[in-house]
Amino acid sequence: MFELSSPKDDDLYIPTVGEWSRDKHYFLMRYIDAFTTSMKNKKWRGLHYIDLFAGAGIEKLKSSQKLDWGSPMIAAKAPHPFDRLHLCEKNKRTYNALKSRVDQIKPDSQILYGDANKKIHEIVEEIPQRTLSLAFLDPYGLHLDYETLRVLSNIRADLIIFFPDHIDALRNWEHNYLDNPDSNLDRCLGPGTNWRSLLNEAPTQRRAEVLRNLYVDQLKKQLGYTEFEYERISFKGHPLYVLIFCSRHKIAAKLWRGISGKKPNGQRTWPF
Ligand SMILES: C[S@@+](CC[C@H](N)C(=O)[O-])C[C@H]1O[C@@H](n2cnc3c(N)ncnc32)[C@H](O)[C@@H]1O
Repeated sequence: MFELSSPKDDDLYIPTVGEWSRDKHYFLMRYIDAFTTSMKNKKWRGLHYIDLFAGAGIEKLKSSQKLDWGSPMIAAKAPHPFDRLHLCEKNKRTYNALKSRVDQIKPDSQILYGDANKKIHEIVEEIPQRTLSLAFLDPYGLHLDYETLRVLSNIRADLIIFFPDHIDALRNWEHNYLDNPDSNLDRCLGPGTNWRSLLNEAPTQRRAEVLRNLYVDQLKKQLGYTEFEYERISFKGHPLYVLIFCSRHKIAAKLWRGISGKKPNGQRTWPF
């Protein structure tokens, strides 16, 4: 198993994040390890890593004040290296820190400053034919547009999507999204969903499931993904978000089930 020693303060900008950020990195690191190990000698002309909401590369956990590697640095340090990283970050200060850190170990990376929902075209253009990519899509809230996923679906990539059901959609839908036809929830779910009536009709305890099913249906029916795996992330007993793993290939889903059987708290579930 690929492990990293804790980062040191390097005097560049380090954003503070919630403790639950560790859980997504736990699954990401294990999947990167499995993915790069099992795919490196296959027919691919290269393995690429895409991180559209890349962050600064190092984060500080709010309550413990510990430093943790961010997703782009986890990818940059994979023992079986990716051929190239493709990163995007919208905040200038965060971008500057990200670029300095990644340039030291992967200087040929594509590192873009700006809105991922606009920059996605530049990224997809840089991914060569017959390569395989892993895309980590990790905004703070409902900021990943369906249209961005549609563009990304033109290349061969497995996706790990942060789906902010409790921390954004279910918290805001009634007051902020219901009356706005161009709301973040509309842009995230894409055209043709009847989320308003479905959420209105669903009992409160079923709404997270209704939303996830709607989203997954869009990715299946409109974008052709066939394999889905889910990891619920909670903090102190409160559900926050779901990591959705998504692919068109059974072997990728099998890899995900293999790495996600053991949870960050050490408990095991067995895939049946
Ligand atoms: C949850 S953090 C990313 C953490 C990082 N993926 C990690 O795991 O270490 C989300 C990041 O996305 C950036 N961001 C927000 N909206 C964005 C957008 N539209 N395009 C690109 N980056 C964006 C934020 O500035 C923030 O740094």
